[in-house]
Amino acid sequence: MQTLHETDPLRRAVAHLRQSGTIALVPTMGALHEGHLTLVREAKKRADHVVVSIFVNPRQFGPGEDLDAYPRTLARDCELVEGAGAALVWAPSVEAMYPAGFATNISVSGVSEGLCGGSRPGHFDGVATVVCKLFNQVQPDVALFGEKDWQQLAVIRRMARDLDLTAPHVDSILGVPTVREADGLARSSRNAYLSADDRSRAAALPEAMKHAIGAIESGAPVPATLDLLAHALVDAGFASVDYAELRDAQSLEVLSERENAPMRLLVAARIGKARLIDNMGVAPV
Ligand code: PAF
Repeated sequence: MQTLHETDPLRRAVAHLRQSGTIALVPTMGALHEGHLTLVREAKKRADHVVVSIFVNPRQFGPGEDLDAYPRTLARDCELVEGAGAALVWAPSVEAMYPAGFATNISVSGVSEGLCGGSRPGHFDGVATVVCKLFNQVQPDVALFGEKDWQQLAVIRRMARDLDLTAPHVDSILGVPTVREADGLARSSRNAYLSADDRSRAAALPEAMKHAIGAIESGAPVPATLDLLAHALVDAGFASVDYAELRDAQSLEVLSERENAPMRLLVAARIGKARLIDNMGVAPV
């Protein structure tokens, strides 16, 4: 497996791989865990070669966010993805990704508004811009993302559709279900910020979400159920809840009652030094 840091060698390596088959891209920010490795294994089923990008993208972190603290574990990440079957790691420097004079921003409206877009202004511009660049650099046949970042996936698909991207085509941008710990907590690189106490309390997030989904599916009023969910998290030791919302799974339209189409319950809440996000499906009426 090769690890590359500059765009010219990357282009040559990708051209070489393409001669012997199709390419899947798994974009990541490193600090890899089982969730990422599941993406790599899924990617391997869908293409001949898997390219994993590892880049802590400064443009998607706001002022005061955890850009400096974000765990950087490149050597270990490379071993892990090699074991999972990747052919190439693309780990550009910030200068290789954003050379001096870089002045372009991709901003997707609609699906990027509210939720994480509300609590992290500019975040999805940074995501859309870097993912568009990664797509152009690698030109994959297929790209895989974790469903844990449900809104991110919606933003990336909207961008691919709106910009008529072909490598990958919007239909080849695939979401892979969230990988969870035994107690239900969604795997995340940011779980590393949790103290032992906070880690044991954090399992209240998926539990409270499942409880709320059960209530909504049994006909409980949505706004009151979301209020109860937020209170349950604070009672369980979360410092605050950024949002707890029911949305249409595709359009991300805000819902105040259950509808006859797939829905998603999305939550972001802070505990200790971590801001945890999660989302789960809600059955249509
Ligand atoms: O989900 C992530 O790890 C990042 O947002 C992504 C898609 C790699 C873009 O930096």
